[in-house]
Amino acid sequence: MHATPSDNTPNTDKIWSGRFAVPIAESVKRYTSSVFFDLRLAEFDIQGSRAHAAMLGRVGLITVDDLNSIENGLNQILEEIQTGKFEWKLDDEDVHLNIERRLTLLIGDAGKRLHTARSRNDQVATDIRLFLRSAVDSIVAQLGKLQLALLDLAEQHTDTILPGFTHLQVAQPVSLAHHLMAYVEMFERDRERLKDSRKRINRLPLGAAALAGTGYPIDREWVAKELGFDGVCLNSLDAVSDRDFAIEFCAAASLIMTHISRLSEEIILWMSPRFGFLQVGDAFCTGSSIMPQKRNPDVPELARGKTGRVHGHLMGLLTLMKSQPLAYNKDNQEDKEPLFDTVDTLGDTLEIFAEMLRDVQVNKDAMRDAAKQGFATATDLADYLVRKGLPFRDAHEAVARAVKAAEDARCDLSDLSLPALQAFSNLIRDDVYAVLTLEGSLSSRTSLGGTAPVRVKEAIQAARIRLS
Ligand code: ARG
Repeated sequence: MHATPSDNTPNTDKIWSGRFAVPIAESVKRYTSSVFFDLRLAEFDIQGSRAHAAMLGRVGLITVDDLNSIENGLNQILEEIQTGKFEWKLDDEDVHLNIERRLTLLIGDAGKRLHTARSRNDQVATDIRLFLRSAVDSIVAQLGKLQLALLDLAEQHTDTILPGFTHLQVAQPVSLAHHLMAYVEMFERDRERLKDSRKRINRLPLGAAALAGTGYPIDREWVAKELGFDGVCLNSLDAVSDRDFAIEFCAAASLIMTHISRLSEEIILWMSPRFGFLQVGDAFCTGSSIMPQKRNPDVPELARGKTGRVHGHLMGLLTLMKSQPLAYNKDNQEDKEPLFDTVDTLGDTLEIFAEMLRDVQVNKDAMRDAAKQGFATATDLADYLVRKGLPFRDAHEAVARAVKAAEDARCDLSDLSLPALQAFSNLIRDDVYAVLTLEGSLSSRTSLGGTAPVRVKEAIQAARIRLS
């Protein structure tokens, strides 16, 4: 099946250099090479090459001897890479050519046969998908760990009351557990999004060759199975060119970082002495070189900052793709750094957040005091009047007047005497104080998804089951 190697093949510098009259300029080599960042794909490149070679062997495109040599050579290269002995060369442009060159050096002609029925275009698309699939799996697991940390904290605080805000104005009392469970929900959707994106990542481009498929009798389905893909990319042009799966991942990553950033913002606010709602452990704070009193929430601040970087990568990839005609263009080489950085930034952030949330001290009194200021139970008073038969709009008006009176007297609604309250509605009896307390308000919100401790305990239970 294979051609006899010709002895007069010139010992060229570049794999394609037979066609060129002058060597490539040094500046162009540096500008176009990707090896110093795409070497990160090496293990996946070797994984893909192994499957490709095995398939070539199965369909008879290479001999058993060649296949054995390729396998041994690739094993040796993998070991060289893992032990830091592999010498990456700028001259060999990218991870694929570096490995192929080394293989050929190690095993001779068999190494040159590996690229039969393959192009770097389908090779790189395969490598990125293998890389991203494994990144998605570990990020899904990390999200689960973060959710568990939130659940463990929530479990201790189903009765811890703080003001729920709208417009950052005190709105209604909620429990800290309920507040934390909001993030558990956000991260659950994030997990779903990632798992869903995995379906579109997990398709095999290999076999699309440069862009049009190949005339060799290859078996793409077999390679797909061998590499754990759910199926093959069905159009060769699309297979080598689109990076929508990476963009989709970056969009999901951007949403995760958005959620992390909102949580960060709250932790930062809550750690400010003006709130004093909680403290993150010393191990996660930094001091100031000049102001001895400072305890700075650097971790959430940095996470908030890094969110911008991840959003930027999403924009970068969208823009990278938008004007490319079919099929592969060198532009696509620029997909790697943003993608790698997104994976790293996200992974590091999730890791540290899961640790940090296991090291927080909650100041229940400060939360409670804040809930007491700002008439958080005003809606409860209105609901009380509605239960006594007053139409909601009238109840709203009566309570607004009561709030004004309490504000003038600089006290909470629950501090007004019964006669003082009755001045706003004669429907008020002394059972009103039960609804004006924070606990009364909290435990009354029993609607599905509400903040009542009984509901929140159920929500925590359900989330634990989902995660197990
Ligand atoms: N280093 C290239 C990339 O990252 C590999 C594919 C090169 N293909 C080509 N036809 N120049 O996209």
